[in-house]
Amino acid sequence: MRKTIKRSRYAPHFLIVSYQRATIYRIKYPTERPEFHSKTALVTGGNRGLGLEVCRLLAKNGVTVVLGSRNRADGEEAAHRLWTEDRVKVFPCRLDVRRPVSITAATNFAIRRFGHIDILINNAGVFLDASPTDEGIGPNSIFAAKTETLLRTFETNTLGALRVCQAVVPKMRERGYGRVVNVSSGDGRLADMAGGRPAYRISKAALNAVTRIFAGELRGTNVLINSVCPGWMRTRMGGPNARRSPAEGADTVVWLALSPDNGPQGCFFRDRQLTPW
Ligand SMILES: NC(=O)c1ccc[n+]([C@@H]2O[C@H](COP(=O)([O-])OP(=O)(O)OC[C@H]3O[C@@H](n4cnc5c(N)ncnc54)[C@H](OP(=O)(O)O)[C@@H]3O)[C@@H](O)[C@H]2O)c1
Repeated sequence: MRKTIKRSRYAPHFLIVSYQRATIYRIKYPTERPEFHSKTALVTGGNRGLGLEVCRLLAKNGVTVVLGSRNRADGEEAAHRLWTEDRVKVFPCRLDVRRPVSITAATNFAIRRFGHIDILINNAGVFLDASPTDEGIGPNSIFAAKTETLLRTFETNTLGALRVCQAVVPKMRERGYGRVVNVSSGDGRLADMAGGRPAYRISKAALNAVTRIFAGELRGTNVLINSVCPGWMRTRMGGPNARRSPAEGADTVVWLALSPDNGPQGCFFRDRQLTPW
């Protein structure tokens, strides 16, 4: 007997259960794509917010997802949540992008368990100098920026992503396949850079430089690396008044993660469109 549980396209929380020949019990999603079944993704900061939605969407597309989380219990809870809400199985793994030993351990785990990492989503980020106005009046003005805040933000948002790339991308290059998405922000765009939030803005502008430099060195390979601005989202970082859901923000990230071999290289996207650096 084959028991197929199919999610209704129109009411995704409604399960249509039917029995046919076979013994396999699996859940089919309207979005699941067989061409991605052999792919493995590592998502940093996958335990909440945008990262969690990226894990959900990748897994729904058939990708094997290693959900990186700096706190083990949070990662396990997030994996459990994805299972109970959507019946998608992801693999939690401890990963603190500020700690090189943690990066090595997480990439070793993914490679030992699944053989390779095909997709890397550098999503983990902090916003330690949120300011109420763009002008950055007060403690979050660049005039008052504290070295510790600048360094800590840079270490997570920029160096963290760079180090995870250093750990993962060489093997992608050897295998001739890789997709890297660096989750940046419009706040890092130099074209219309305003005042305030100096640590966050500098870290994301520098992350965009990381994208460009890797892209320059990966030219002609099938390892594609791009930056994305997911937009202002209702996450712990974005707060409850943001315009978009994390799922809306995840769309462009996953679109790039699943891009074809002739896909974009070294670009900055928002809403699946090129956006100025
Ligand atoms: N929210 C927005 O409006 C917005 C807009 C533009 C860009 N972004 C970018 O989108 C990304 C995700 O943001 P979000 O809104 O989902 O934020 P969030 O809800 O605050 O989630 C941030 C994630 O990053 C993780 N993280 C922080 N430091 C880490 C470290 N050292 N190692 C590993 N993980 C770490 C957090 O883990 P813990 O749970 O352990 O803290 C959490 O999982 C960030 O890069 C952010 O800059 C967000």
